[in-house]
Amino acid sequence: MDELSKKFLIGLVLTMAIIVILPIYAIRENKRHTAAAERYTEAAVERGAITFAQACASCHGIQGGGKIESTTFIGFPLNPEFREKAGLVIKLTEGDSYVIDQDESRKVIHRGRIGGDPTNTLSAAEKKLTVPNLNMPAWGVEDGGSLKEFTIEDVVALLQHWNQEAVDDALEHLPADQLAGLRAQAAAGKNR
Ligand code: HEC
Repeated sequence: MDELSKKFLIGLVLTMAIIVILPIYAIRENKRHTAAAERYTEAAVERGAITFAQACASCHGIQGGGKIESTTFIGFPLNPEFREKAGLVIKLTEGDSYVIDQDESRKVIHRGRIGGDPTNTLSAAEKKLTVPNLNMPAWGVEDGGSLKEFTIEDVVALLQHWNQEAVDDALEHLPADQLAGLRAQAAAGKNR
């Protein structure tokens, strides 16, 4: 083989190698990104569960089931299992986990919502749950609440990817009397 053909051959082999290697690299890079995004969401859900246990469980239940979990909780169900029982429309599905409307829940957490307000645009199932003067308090600092934007985003992540284990874990870290109070509240009006 002459010198030129040899060089050509080497060039061809190297080009083929790049053609084969690039997509493999692209696929691996993609997987790496997905894994990083999943870890990011998981961490947000865990932080969201801590806020939920501290600030939301007294009305929305220790399982996030609200008034469907126990008559002693006044909040709407947030855990998708309980939302389904209440006939609340589940807007999207992502794999196996049901997802509640992200924009709507974000808005309600920031601004709160007045129970039984006829000017609220609620579905028929929501109208059955809403009670005059049982209000969702506003949590956003800009609306007089105590939660910063990023903390609310963590809770929104929890509502999108409900994780009862993370909530249970967060509840275990509450002061003992607060946890005992929540458990007693849950047991007192448990819906069977
Ligand atoms: C004092 C009781 C109370 C607390 C504490 C509370 N909520 Fe609520 N929440 C309610 C009530 C009552 C409603 C239903 C309002 C209505 O009838 O429109 C509600 C509704 C909601 C909704 C709307 C659900 C839907 O289907 O539209 C979301 C989301 C929500 N709460 C999230 C939270 C989060 C997150 C926290 C903690 C940061 C929290 N709530 C703390 C009482 C509470």
